[in-house]
Amino acid sequence: MTAAGSGPRQADEHRDEGTSHSAAVAALLAGAAALGGFLFGYDSSVINGTVDALKREFGLGGFAVGFVVSSALLGCAAGAWFAGPLSDRIGRVRVMLIAAGLFLVSSLGSALAFSAVDLTVWRLVGGLAIGAASVIAPAYIAEIAPAELRGRLGSLQQMAIVLGIFAALVVDYVIARVSDGGATGTFPWGGGAWRWMFASAVVPAVMYGVIATTIPESPRYLVKKHETARARQVLRRVMGRGDVDVKITEITRSIASDRPVRLGDLRGGRLGLMPIVWAGILLSVFQQFVGINVIFYYSSSLWQAVGFSENDAMLTSVINSIVNVAFTLVAIALVDRIGRRPLLLAGAAGMAVSLGTLTVCFATAPVVDGAPNLGGVAGPVALVAANVFVASFAATWGPVVWVMLGEMFNNFIRASALAVAAAAQWLANWVVTTTFPGISGFSLGLAYGLYTLFSILAFLFVLRAVPETKGRELEDMDDLTAPRAARAKGRAARPPIG
Ligand code: GLC
Repeated sequence: MTAAGSGPRQADEHRDEGTSHSAAVAALLAGAAALGGFLFGYDSSVINGTVDALKREFGLGGFAVGFVVSSALLGCAAGAWFAGPLSDRIGRVRVMLIAAGLFLVSSLGSALAFSAVDLTVWRLVGGLAIGAASVIAPAYIAEIAPAELRGRLGSLQQMAIVLGIFAALVVDYVIARVSDGGATGTFPWGGGAWRWMFASAVVPAVMYGVIATTIPESPRYLVKKHETARARQVLRRVMGRGDVDVKITEITRSIASDRPVRLGDLRGGRLGLMPIVWAGILLSVFQQFVGINVIFYYSSSLWQAVGFSENDAMLTSVINSIVNVAFTLVAIALVDRIGRRPLLLAGAAGMAVSLGTLTVCFATAPVVDGAPNLGGVAGPVALVAANVFVASFAATWGPVVWVMLGEMFNNFIRASALAVAAAAQWLANWVVTTTFPGISGFSLGLAYGLYTLFSILAFLFVLRAVPETKGRELEDMDDLTAPRAARAKGRAARPPIG
């Protein structure tokens, strides 16, 4: 706003100030929502340091431990599935609060678990929260972010995930170091080190709950619920000089009706679902089938199996997660500049090369005690390749898939489509995580050979089927989303703009 009589230059300055202030507000809100991502990273990978202790404490074999580790992921799939429709009914912020409560209960329950079954149940409960947070954060961020910042703000979600992973692995490492007997030993205050690893998640869970009480509801949800005045208030805070009324009209137009979104709305095309929904599902599945989480859930025991000491293996996991954080910053810098597609293509190529190298290292190493032993030059080569793999993923597929899932669907189907794609992602994660101990017990080379194959397929898939979404307004995603006939039908069904 300008004072009467001020010159054009002053007016511009005022406007710039307003714009940067509102960009800061949008960034702050996005950051708060992204804290769900921190918990997602923290809760899903805190298990990394506990794997060997769990095997010992509950007498678990390879398959059983795979199941306990991955049980949270089944909960995640369910949480992601229900969170979309639920958040359309009760609001994004209330779902965040429910998730925070579930996070809290699950960390305490897991820490106090007395059997593998008990632990599995608590991890499932935590999974519901992780899955819900994984859907709500990108949706909320996309809904409050101005188009030109959306990629960068959406990447905050991934930044939070990777910081969560990093924090969990550091905490695991520290707890193992101060415990008597390492990760499988006893914590100085009593109880197994692994119990404290799980208990530590209470801290971010409480923070998430507290922060969720301070952020406003998403303007798009408010418009849908006919709370236009509140929506206008929020938009004014995040849009600055942008025209709030025009935005409200656009949102109203893009929401075809105010009945709750149903999964049936995603139907269309020859393959049962709209092509854009398939694109979201496949992006998610490929993001997991390259095997990234094998590194983040199992690396401490993986590196020990190939000949590293417990200390070196846990430290290697921490280093992996630092590389993960550093290269996520690269993605944030690039995503709104060079676009989503080039990043996905470059990432898939980098992953194919590094995973191929790991495959060769594991497949050609001599087998000692049932696992390939990476002596000589193979050890350092595998370590570098693992970090190049993490870097290639972190700078591209990690953040870009979450950004795209938040933005590639139009307002009408976003919550449901995101739920389906995120649930598919968690199921894919579950498949990789449960099968890894079994396949790698048979041959680590085979496991990594499969991940290499999937990164090549991921490259081809992006080349052929993934549209660019950089810089488009969410209200324009219709052009990507619906087949022509459904678009025409949707337009006809839309309420008049008032
Ligand atoms: C992405 C993936 C998640 C993975 C993380 C690793 O967020 O969706 O499964 O743990 O990247 O950085």
